[in-house]
Amino acid sequence: MVLVTGIKALAKADGQNYAVGAFNVNNMEIMQAVVRAAEAQRSPVFIQTSEGAIDYAGLEALYTMMLFAAESASVPVVIHLDHGKDLDLIRKCIKIGYSSIMFDGSHLPFEENIATTKQVVRWAHRRGVSVEAELGTIGGVEDKVSSRTIVFTEPDAAKSFVDRSGCDSLAIAIGTSHGAYKFAGQAQLDLARLRVIKRKLRMPLVLHGASGVPQELVQKITGFGGQLGNPEGVPEDQLGQAVKLGINKVNTDTDLRLAFTAAVRETLITKPAEFDPRKIIGPARDAIQKVVEARMQLFGSSGKA
Ligand code: G3H
Ligand code: 13P
Ligand code: ZN
Repeated sequence: MVLVTGIKALAKADGQNYAVGAFNVNNMEIMQAVVRAAEAQRSPVFIQTSEGAIDYAGLEALYTMMLFAAESASVPVVIHLDHGKDLDLIRKCIKIGYSSIMFDGSHLPFEENIATTKQVVRWAHRRGVSVEAELGTIGGVEDKVSSRTIVFTEPDAAKSFVDRSGCDSLAIAIGTSHGAYKFAGQAQLDLARLRVIKRKLRMPLVLHGASGVPQELVQKITGFGGQLGNPEGVPEDQLGQAVKLGINKVNTDTDLRLAFTAAVRETLITKPAEFDPRKIIGPARDAIQKVVEARMQLFGSSGKA
């Protein structure tokens, strides 16, 4: 049984200056790909479900699958709720056995974000569950997670937020955004701000909206008939620097979606007679595993299990 709490995985990462990858899972194949990658890389991992994933697949079905995967794995696995906003759902996730949850109060006024995070921390800590909170807003629009504006995290406000709310880790806004279209021009993370926040907070920090949007996947999708605009992700060198400066959890969803779509498109176009779902989704699972393994190497979590 290697289900671990978020704070256990993140305290070690903070101490040894690497980041643990957190990957969004919506079905069995994506989850298997992520856990297989963690095993292959001997890396700790967060498998996380958004509220949208839970709407899609059902809490019990997803949790049962994730628990089985965590219990069978030989590397530390954190079962995490990503961007929890619905307090009833947060309580259900704590009760069912998630080992970490995120309360995303970034859309709330400062005082209300603190008060609600504090309440969630009380519920979660009573059961030994870790809490990630968010201050500042990360841009981008997805199924249930959206913000059209980016408000960067203020270091002093972050310090007061953490002291008063009691959260275990903090997601900060330094210029990333969710989805495949992150930057209008040159990608530029505010690494100076990250340095100050880390110095003041001295705790695990989380980076959302961190997908790299690999161009080979974009080209494969468009080469096999997909239509994308001009997707652009966080460059690897900037992400590497962010990890060096104290990011200890990096969220990735978009890159997995791109890998899945590229592989499914390729199979359907190159094997038009194929209609066995296992032969269509199987290669997509392999493609996701490859992306996840590369991310683990980039974050420095390979070999840290
Ligand atoms: O940060 C958001 C994740 O990519 C989840 O997106 O709400 O579409 O599942 P979703
Ligand atoms: P990406 O859209 O960059 O993969 O970010 C995912 C994320 O932050 C999930 O919480
Ligand atoms: Zn996010």
